[in-house]
Amino acid sequence: MKHTAKLPAPDPIAQQHSDKLLQLIFQTIKNHRGWLSFAEFMQMALYQPGLGYYSNGLSKIGKAGDFTTAPEISPLFSRALGNHLADVLKQLPHADCLEFGAGNGQMAVAILQYLQKIDRLPSHYYIIEASAYLREKQRQLIIKHFGANQNLVIWLDQLPVKFSGIILANEVCDAMPVHRIQFEQEEFVELGVGHTDNQLVWLTKPVTDTLLMSRCEQILPLLEYTPYQTEVAVQATAWLSTLADLLEQGAIYLIDYGYEANDYYHPMRHKGTLRCHYQHQVHNDPFILIGLQDITAHVDFTALAETAHQKGLRVEGYQRQSDFLVAGDILNLSQQGAPDPFQQMQQAAALKRLLLPEQMGELFKVLSLSKNVEMPRSKSADQRYRL
Ligand SMILES: C[S@@+](CC[C@H](N)C(=O)[O-])C[C@H]1O[C@@H](n2cnc3c(N)ncnc32)[C@H](O)[C@@H]1O
Repeated sequence: MKHTAKLPAPDPIAQQHSDKLLQLIFQTIKNHRGWLSFAEFMQMALYQPGLGYYSNGLSKIGKAGDFTTAPEISPLFSRALGNHLADVLKQLPHADCLEFGAGNGQMAVAILQYLQKIDRLPSHYYIIEASAYLREKQRQLIIKHFGANQNLVIWLDQLPVKFSGIILANEVCDAMPVHRIQFEQEEFVELGVGHTDNQLVWLTKPVTDTLLMSRCEQILPLLEYTPYQTEVAVQATAWLSTLADLLEQGAIYLIDYGYEANDYYHPMRHKGTLRCHYQHQVHNDPFILIGLQDITAHVDFTALAETAHQKGLRVEGYQRQSDFLVAGDILNLSQQGAPDPFQQMQQAAALKRLLLPEQMGELFKVLSLSKNVEMPRSKSADQRYRL
């Protein structure tokens, strides 16, 4: 399998994993008469049991992995988020939390330690995790901090039928499979995956799926440049729609990198927002390092907010990550305790990464959604007008 010379070569065991997954993808393409939608390919590359990027036993998140997320940078992120949660838990005492895609489990631990400290623990902290491997990592971390007999954190295999409380997802929407489309000569085509000579290749076909077509029609007025390639996150909006149905009362926080529609479909992004992360390097070829690299797409927050609104959720706020964390009192939190000078320097560096616009402060946004609760901190420096 080819891989770009600039990227570090995988070790032989990782390469074997990758080759095995690639053969399975070839076979699946054959079974689908030579064409797999990009969303189906991405599903396999990331989540194929035992082989996909999130399902195999290789390090992913943090220094030893491929990318670092905000909860891994500093627990201050989770504590500031904890202050937002505490406002909601005050209105719904004994309600539950439900985190999707908890990664290594750092955010769950830091949130729970903080809520315990301020006496606002939820009744339960549920986790739904697509990767069996990460679920096990989370379990080990929870045992380390809360003991083997704890019954606060519970992993669910499927969505509850009804839920009251707080739903959280940090960098999960960007990891959901997307369709790829191209607009050229007044026509949308879907970009899918085929293979020739033992290599994956892009193939196009007319858009036939009605849901995908209706999303194409929605974004058409925004496209000012052709040919225009972009991603459509049908799965993320369907997921949010399901959450809206099951939420009886409570709040949803979606934290991710992305833009509102006007910025998302800007001519500057005419090649789309698909990105691959491998050992802290970023590139845009999803057909290499299969199962060894993360594949993501930026989030279209307008599409999520519209879905939420249509499904009866209130869009409470749309904030830059920096504004959300400042509203969660991150600056005061960073003053608490008496860290030694080295820890102070580490903390200052972490704050810079989380808050500065050229780091995570501006690209990352928080969409706050509610049903019958108030989310007061989500109103601070709110940018819903951009959606
Ligand atoms: C980029 S990682 C983020 C991990 C963690 N939230 C963090 O901030 O460090 C994406 C996570 O979402 C999980 N995931 C993706 N789609 C999911 C889904 N539909 N349901 C539950 N987990 C999902 C992945 O397995 C992984 O744990």
